[in-house]
Amino acid sequence: MKEVTFSTIAVIGAGAMGRGIAQIAAQAGSRVKIFDTQPETLASAREAVFSQWDRLEEKGRLSPESVVDNKARLTLADHLSMLHDCDLVVEAIVERLDVKKTLFAELEAIVGPDTVLVTNTSSLSVTAIAAELKRPGRFAGYHFFNPVPLMKVVEVIAGLKTDPAACDGLTRYARQMGHTPVQAQDTPGFIVNHAGRGYGTEALRIVGEGISDFATIDRILKDQAGFKLGPFELFDLTALDVSHPVMESIYRQYFEEPRYRPSVITAQRLAGGMLGRKVGEGFYRYEDGVARITPEPPAPQVTEMPPVWVSPRAARRSELLQLLKDLGAKIETGVSPSPVALTLVAPLGFDVTTVAVVERLDPARTVGIDMLVDDATTRRRVLATNPATRIDMRDAAHALFSRDAKAVSVIRDSGGFVTQRVVANIVNIAADMCQQRVCTPQDLETAVTLGLGYPLGPLAMGDRYGPTNILEVLFNMQTVYGDPRYRPSPWLRRRGAIGLSLMHTEE
Ligand code: NAI
Repeated sequence: MKEVTFSTIAVIGAGAMGRGIAQIAAQAGSRVKIFDTQPETLASAREAVFSQWDRLEEKGRLSPESVVDNKARLTLADHLSMLHDCDLVVEAIVERLDVKKTLFAELEAIVGPDTVLVTNTSSLSVTAIAAELKRPGRFAGYHFFNPVPLMKVVEVIAGLKTDPAACDGLTRYARQMGHTPVQAQDTPGFIVNHAGRGYGTEALRIVGEGISDFATIDRILKDQAGFKLGPFELFDLTALDVSHPVMESIYRQYFEEPRYRPSVITAQRLAGGMLGRKVGEGFYRYEDGVARITPEPPAPQVTEMPPVWVSPRAARRSELLQLLKDLGAKIETGVSPSPVALTLVAPLGFDVTTVAVVERLDPARTVGIDMLVDDATTRRRVLATNPATRIDMRDAAHALFSRDAKAVSVIRDSGGFVTQRVVANIVNIAADMCQQRVCTPQDLETAVTLGLGYPLGPLAMGDRYGPTNILEVLFNMQTVYGDPRYRPSPWLRRRGAIGLSLMHTEE
């Protein structure tokens, strides 16, 4: 048998998570005993794990001998007392503080004094679960993600009384199981569920403000910012009966911090049973498991293209001018637009209306374009109208920016475009987590890329778009909305000038 930190472990709770944890622990070389209060669940868990191993053998990922060994190492326990010789107990039962506390109190009377006890809770406080234990030093959080064998990250969470040696052992053991461990303080949402607040929550606010629809926001964030799934596709996959309570729980646990405020949209959809893919209807409708997506309308046909004038204050102005040249636009170079010109602005964080008023531009001919993202790196351009924009001007801008067949979305005016708002929020929440010392910046990046599948860690994302640009988006959005949720974290304000993903001695 391989040398493992914990040679005999128990997994309590044989549901989705317990089975996955049992599988990877046995694969690492530990003897694994599974216990569940439901005998039929226990039996089906063994069958499920065995058939996983059979499949891995068929695919050539496991040798026939190792499958035989793994199966021999996995046994079922019909009573808690059978777990007395385990050196690690992983709890993955129902998410209720009282039930978990009762279980660990019972376990303390069964296992030896050095047995490490861990909870896979995703929303309860590790410190609270350990509050009445006789030996809270050997208790920690060990937070895996679903499906465990494929989601190769685990958060090791120290409660207030956790002995660092317990975390060290768990960290080593995570690596032996082929997972990447990250260390988190016992704070609401730990790392991944906390860092994940910026994405869906801001997308819901954009929908709530009537700026755009679900499908367009999904398209923008995938094509412009490189996310694998749009926020609404992600809600449908996770299901609202899981994700809405997580949003509420983190918001409440942080004493109603406005950054995490959930949305009435998901509350109502949850109440209406539109949970997502698993019930065939969420933000999208599903037929045979496939989302029915209304195709995008084609770009309008414009016979006479007006000349274009670009505001001197536009973000990435020279790139925008080059792009217009490449698209064959007739560019005006005067200090102000001629009476027929399509007037382009490219604000960061400000709305198009405010820019038109401040720059004394004719709002009827003014259209905004999101230039936060380098056009060469995206598959989509995003334009925004203001309430006065003439339809012929909107259509001219849409047609012009579609000339090279790149996709174009037109949204209504808001402080910050879709990508600006969502990216700025992700970066700001991550920066605040660094400020709070929830984890190290390195672990934050690792946990988010592995746990959420983002194209980049949030700090690297901030650097990609420019920390000063992100700060500008947030400062200006704070002005537009007058809302503390867009207040930049002090960590972000300080790092704005030097780069977010640089790791300094302070860390
Ligand atoms: P599940 O509902 O699939 O399985 C829970 C199992 O625990 C059931 O088989 C149930 O019979 C058993 N159980 C309940 N009370 C018990 C007790 N007192 N003693 C022994 N067995 C008991 O739940 P799932 O999804 O596996 O979640 C388990 C834990 O993992 C929860 O704390 C959850 O918050 C956490 N978690 C879940 C994730 C997920 O995506 N499903 C992700 C990360 C953590």
